[in-house]
Amino acid sequence: MSDDNEGNAAQAAIIKAIRDDPSLYQHQIYLTQRPPIFQTVDMDKLEELAAEKLRKGNRERLNSFGKPYGFRQMEDYPRMMVDATVRDLSVTLFGKKYPHPIILGPVGVQGIAHEDAELATARAAQRLKAIYTLSTAASRSIEQVANENGAGSRWFQLYWPKDNAITLSLLNRAKQNGYSALVVTLDTILLGWRPEDLKINYLPFIHGVGCQIGFSDPVFMTKCNSIPMDVVPTFPYDPETLNTLAAGNGPKTEEFKKIMEIAIRWLKDEVTSGFFRTWSDVGFLRTSWEGPLLLKGIQSLEDAEKAIDAGVDGIVVSNHGMFFGFSEFPDSEELSGGRQVDGAIGSLDALERIMKSSRVREAQKTGKFTVLFDSGIRTGSDILKALGLGAQAVLVGRSYMYGLALQGQEGVEEVLKILLSDLNATMGLAGYKDIEDVRSNLLHHLVRA
Ligand SMILES: Cc1cc2nc3c(=O)[nH]c(=O)nc-3n(C[C@H](O)[C@H](O)[C@H](O)COP(=O)(O)O)c2cc1C
Repeated sequence: MSDDNEGNAAQAAIIKAIRDDPSLYQHQIYLTQRPPIFQTVDMDKLEELAAEKLRKGNRERLNSFGKPYGFRQMEDYPRMMVDATVRDLSVTLFGKKYPHPIILGPVGVQGIAHEDAELATARAAQRLKAIYTLSTAASRSIEQVANENGAGSRWFQLYWPKDNAITLSLLNRAKQNGYSALVVTLDTILLGWRPEDLKINYLPFIHGVGCQIGFSDPVFMTKCNSIPMDVVPTFPYDPETLNTLAAGNGPKTEEFKKIMEIAIRWLKDEVTSGFFRTWSDVGFLRTSWEGPLLLKGIQSLEDAEKAIDAGVDGIVVSNHGMFFGFSEFPDSEELSGGRQVDGAIGSLDALERIMKSSRVREAQKTGKFTVLFDSGIRTGSDILKALGLGAQAVLVGRSYMYGLALQGQEGVEEVLKILLSDLNATMGLAGYKDIEDVRSNLLHHLVRA
């Protein structure tokens, strides 16, 4: 073999190794001299690109949850002259080891962003070894998504139905299809006040988009005097065309009107029924679900402690993306489109407060209680901050939706690679060699302005 050939082979081997490790995406870009697929790795820019691509209504749905503000700074960050040469991004959650701490959080109605919807996300999650959390408000069924996710790790997010028989049916389907943990979202018992959506009467559920788990549920469909149906939403979602169809005549209209009727029932009676539960109801889920049980939407120290008392396995500190939480207290005018509860503190602040509880810290230390975080993750540094404040892993939502909107599965993979590679580089530069190192040594408090 000539020197040249050897050189090429060595370079090819390095490129292959880099390609196999998404947390080295940065190296891949430089070495192959190929730019990232969207010509940017900036999440704000990806948001703009996705917004340009989506039609008006869908764009507002993805964007109306608030904008990022100046990032909160952390003390004693970065640190220098520590050995972070070999870095390990892996985390262990509920006894299982994962190669990195990024979870794809529950985002419903993905059919508004891409024709492959949740199927694309589930495939990307499997490829990049990220846990995928399927939403109850998905636009594909529990079974279809499990099929695409294959040997991947998946959790199921529950919007708690009013009818216990339907809840049990969903839990049973999730279990049968390999969803290992249950994430119960508490902050969306009813639809939030959403000025941007209201302005254009935008609610895809009305047209059956995001009701696919209901349409495919035998117990719910029996209640609707029907049988499970595979209703595949049209893409792009176009409310005007669907309104015209609903107002017409003929068999297609009749069929669509039936779908709408069932969709409204799913929304009104089950997914966002307005039927509030209390802490004593958690026992029902605890006895009905054998795997890890997490509560999503916890924002106060008191609620975190109540979650421990209720016997759940963990919480997701989240404000449903009302605003990012990495910010200084932002300009409230800009936030009037807040998603669930306007005026709540940012999630990162909430995490900081929750981790002040010695009960939470103790329960976490013994492995009985897992603390996860979402709302506002856009960079590797954001992830480090959340981990440094005590989270064991983070969920991301909108960022991967931008990737999905732009290029389906490949777009979601791209976003994951960006986040992982940024995390890897930033972790090293900040002086941390593994996630435990970050969690046990990073400041644990935010700098106040
Ligand atoms: C379009 C959209 C749909 C969402 N749907 C759900 C859902 O079905 N279930 C849920 O628990 N959270 C849902 N969320 C909230 C996300 O899980 C997450 O809490 C929020 O977006 C904040 O994280 P992010 O800043 O990474 O986007 C949704 C968010 C968006 C943007």
